[in-house]
Amino acid sequence: MDQITNVSEYEAIAKKNLPKMVYDFFASGAEDQWTLKENLLAFSRILFRPRILIDVSTIDLSTTILGFKVSMPIMIAPTGMQKMAHPEGECATARAASAAGTIMTLSTVANSSIEEVASTGPGIRLFQLYVFKDRNLVTQLVRRAERAGYKAIVLTADTPRVGRREADIKNRFTISPSLTLKNFENLDLGKIDETNDSGLGSYDVGLIDRSLNWKDVKWLQTITTLPILIKGVITAEDTRLCIQAGAAGIIVSNHGGRQLDYVPATIMALEEVVKAAEGQIPVFLDGGVRRGTDVFKALALGASGVFIGRPVVFSLAAAGEAGVRKVLQMLRDELELTMALSGCCSLKEIRRDHIVAEWDAPRIAPRL
Ligand code: FNR
Repeated sequence: MDQITNVSEYEAIAKKNLPKMVYDFFASGAEDQWTLKENLLAFSRILFRPRILIDVSTIDLSTTILGFKVSMPIMIAPTGMQKMAHPEGECATARAASAAGTIMTLSTVANSSIEEVASTGPGIRLFQLYVFKDRNLVTQLVRRAERAGYKAIVLTADTPRVGRREADIKNRFTISPSLTLKNFENLDLGKIDETNDSGLGSYDVGLIDRSLNWKDVKWLQTITTLPILIKGVITAEDTRLCIQAGAAGIIVSNHGGRQLDYVPATIMALEEVVKAAEGQIPVFLDGGVRRGTDVFKALALGASGVFIGRPVVFSLAAAGEAGVRKVLQMLRDELELTMALSGCCSLKEIRRDHIVAEWDAPRIAPRL
């Protein structure tokens, strides 16, 4: 593990360690996987405008998220079924997040329960919610998250149906029989449609409520006092609707390129959402964050923080809790260095002027 010098290197180790079906499930995206690749590539088209001769001898990466103090603006996105990556699964991730002083989001479709993850020790945790047709089940999940001390509900809004991930279809992806979706243990989930090619697809198609709409965001507020973050926002129109619906925050996300292919990279969509939010609620981003420079670029475009998905499952597969800790530490160190080299001592000093995006007007007027 000492040989690892950046987050992306964990993917090759995970690929070696995992059965092909599991690696493909973690790695792949929808259809042509254009959005999957673009999420990473788009960061590389944003360049820096660093400032020099600024005293950067002390740098503060800490911030406040939903009123909670965290050590850095880098958090953990919900990814399902983490025991397929490592036997300690979500509990290892929770411990790593807590050790790093940051936030973990637990997926509805986790292999460790809401309560098991809470019992790993102190930590700021959010619960990601898929809304199922059975609203009693949804109410129970939300109540359990509240009771277990989770601080917010992350409502995933980009998954009325599961995107077409062709690797999963080819591999006839199924959840290992020794693993369960722990949050549903002892609950009657009804019949799972076995006829679909992808096991996950059939699972979700059978249970996720395709009729989920803005009224349900209001309904959710009648069953919980927890703040609700809406995950999967890509447009200004939906940003305004999120605010009207009472969301406490927005996560600009395309589900890591796993849902609708050919939506823009999240870093391309971020500024539109930030402008539409007009500072009324915080805007976060996930998708393709692999470097501290990526984090800096997202903050410069107005994000209040970022979440990482695949780097967590890949490092978990490579080295368990220690792997996730190292990923968080490397991103932290890289962000700190980027800030120093850009002339920023604190997150609030990171401004739009520190970067240049391809849609910016040229600064040097062309000669006539
Ligand atoms: C996900 N994601 C996801 N999102 C969600 O709301 N609930 C979930 O259960 C899952 N599960 C999941 C599994 C796997 C294997 C992946 C890769 C992703 C999406 C996730 O929260 C996040 O949006 C993306 O992973 C962010 O992109 P990166 O960091 O993976 O590029």
